[in-house]
Formats: sequence, structure tokens, C-alpha cells
Amino acid sequence: MIKPHGSDELNPLFVYDTEERHALVAEAESLPSLLLNSAAAANAVMLGGGYFNPLTGYMNLADSMAVAEKMVTTDGLFFPVPIVNLTDETGIEAGSRIALRDPNVEGNPVLAVMDVEAVESVSDEQINFMAEKIFRTLDPAHPGVATFTGLGRTMVSGPIKVLNFSYFQDDFPDTFRTAVEIRNEIAERGWNKVVAFQTRNPMHRAHEELCRMAMEDLKADGILIHMLLGQLKPGDIPADVRDAAIRKMVEVYFPPNTVMITGYGFDMLYAGPREAVLHAVFRQNCGCSYLIVGRDHAGVGDYYGGFDAQTIFDEEVPEGALELEIFKADHTAYSKKLGKVVMMRDAPDHEKEDFVLLSGTKVREMLGQGIAPPPEFSRPEVAKILSDYYQSLDK
Ligand code: ADX
Repeated sequence: MIKPHGSDELNPLFVYDTEERHALVAEAESLPSLLLNSAAAANAVMLGGGYFNPLTGYMNLADSMAVAEKMVTTDGLFFPVPIVNLTDETGIEAGSRIALRDPNVEGNPVLAVMDVEAVESVSDEQINFMAEKIFRTLDPAHPGVATFTGLGRTMVSGPIKVLNFSYFQDDFPDTFRTAVEIRNEIAERGWNKVVAFQTRNPMHRAHEELCRMAMEDLKADGILIHMLLGQLKPGDIPADVRDAAIRKMVEVYFPPNTVMITGYGFDMLYAGPREAVLHAVFRQNCGCSYLIVGRDHAGVGDYYGGFDAQTIFDEEVPEGALELEIFKADHTAYSKKLGKVVMMRDAPDHEKEDFVLLSGTKVREMLGQGIAPPPEFSRPEVAKILSDYYQSLDK
């Protein structure tokens, strides 16, 4: 199987040894606490599950600035996005040991224990420098920029040990998986070449067909549908609804034992190209050899060009930095003339009018009015689950 990023073995930061975990939980009760923001908590969950291998905790300011600028830490490790714990809390001391508390679970239980190596003030200039590199804009209307620039001006860095997976395990017991679990399951299935499909949406026919095309072109053993389970911007479809729609689609339209339906506990960054590279890093850690990157991957609004998330791999990811390769998908849609879903580049004679194209906003509007999207766009079983959800919002 493909090696993890940056090391021979995956090194999850979750404490698997029950005795050690209980001892740390007990110790945490007497440690000074830091209530994390959701972004830092999501980083801890990802670090815990081995997704951000080979990191051992939160990055310091020098690493964060270097990673933001050129996707490499001061030690030369390739990493696409700073993994940070930014706060406005005061009184945390370098050299201390602290308990990191979860903002997303009632009672704020301890999520991780941290050895604080550094507590550094971050200037507005430094925050803006990083934000602009990560998001390619400083527009406060960009949801990722708004979140990142509002996280705080104190960076608390150092190694962590993770004690639980926040709300993800309880809320999505069948879907949430760590990178360790995914690697193990791939091995158990005897799969070698696995294609990952990133998604934060329900899957329509274009998405379904992208998975099928990638499977066939790459002669893969299986596909890992890997959905984001963390926070999204308002208006995006909640994870349980997406999960149900995806499960139904796979059940009806894919051969048995060709698809793994899984999810990961991270908040959406909306960082387009940079997030695509982060997606590639953590799918390699999951044991996948390919990641599908299509149109406007991880994008939002009009901030990124349709295929910027593909070109970044050619233009900015150094040769050999990743073992995983991307499967570059063109805009995909149903062609009325061909009577099937195709990548537009494979239908060169066809005009735009030939394709059934609907924007996300248009589909949401239709569903809100109780109108099902056309069968060329959505499978009826998927449309049903989504309309039920939208109808329930009205009540
Ligand atoms: S994402 O933010 O998680 O990337 P989404 O769930 O919409 O958003 O997309 C999942 C994957 O499918 C991404 O790789 C995206 O580029 C791709 N994709 C979505 N719709 C299309 C389409 N019509 N044509 C080509 N690729 C698409």
C-alpha cells in the first residue's frame, strides 16, 4: 500500500492504550485548561486520527508562516496549510502542560493534552500574510478568510496527545473513520489501488459518474467516498442528510464491495487549491493512491478558477512531495445528445446547451419549492431524500 506522508508508518496522536488514556484524562482535570475554537478542535481530531501525519501537534509561528508561504515547514516537511491553535486567551505559559477543551461538545470535555512549546503573539500583518497565501484573497466575505482572521492573535504550539474524537464518533458512528481505520479496512479488503472522492455535498449524477470514470480509467480496486463531517457555512446541507443520500446512491447504483462510505472530522476551509493539496496529503495517509479533483474543488463563490485546484499540483507541489496522484476531472454533466453523463472534454462537438447544467443555488431553490431536480441531474432516490429535508425546513 502507498506509504503515509512523511514517514514509513502512520503515527496517529490518539492515545490507543486505554490505561494511558485514563491516566491522561485524570491528569487533565488538574491541568490549566484552554477552550479551543472549532478550527483548532478539528485540527486535534485530524491529528488524532493520523490524517495529518507526520505532524506531532500544532505548528509554531515560524512553521506556520513558512507553510503558508511555500508549503514547507522550517524542517523541510511538505505541508500545504498551517495546522494551528490560535486563541485570544491569555495566561498560557510556554513549558507548561495544558488540557485542550472541546467547544463543540456540551460540558467542554478534554479533547487533548498538550505540552506547550511556544506561546507567540501574531500580528495582524502576519495573520493577513498567511490568510492571503492560503485563500488567495483577503476578502472578509470569503468564509475561510473570515474564520481564519477571527481565530485569535496568540499562537499556542507544541505536541499533543488526543483523548477522543469530539462529537464525530457519537454523531456519525457508521461513517466517521480515522486514517488508521481506513488504511486497515483497505488492507482487509485486499485492495491495492484506491481512489478517494472528496465531498461536502450530496452526490448527484455528475459526482457518481466521476467516481465510476476514475475507477475505470485507473483500473482501481475500489473507491473511498470520504465526506467532510465538520462545520460548513450556512446553507450547506447537513452531514446526516448527505450521508443518507450518498448511502442510498451507492446501494442502488454501485456494484457491491466497490465503495467504502466514510467521513472525516474537519471543518471546511473553502481554500480551493490549497485545500485540494491538503486533501491529497490526508488521502495518502488513508492509503489511497489517487484523489479525484474536479471543477472548483473545495471552492466557494467565484474566488478560484474552475481548475486552479488541479494546476496547483503541477505548478506549486514539488516533484516527489506526494506519492498520491490526482485524477483530473473536467466539468462533468449529462449530455442530451449522448444520453449520458460525460466529461465535457470528451464531447467536443457539443454546445453548452446540450448539457443539463444546474447550479447548486438553483437546485436548492427547486428542492425548497418541492420540485425534484431532473433525473439527468439527480437520481430520484437522492432527490427524494433531499426534498424531504428541504420540506422539513419549511415546517
Ligand atoms: S468540495 O468542496 O468537497 O470539493 P463537492 O462536494 O461539490 O465540493 O465536490 C466534490 C468533488 O467533485 C470535487 O473534486 C469537485 O471538483 C468535483 N465536482 C463536483 N461537481 C463537478 C462537476 N459538475 N464536474 C466536475 N467535477 C465536479
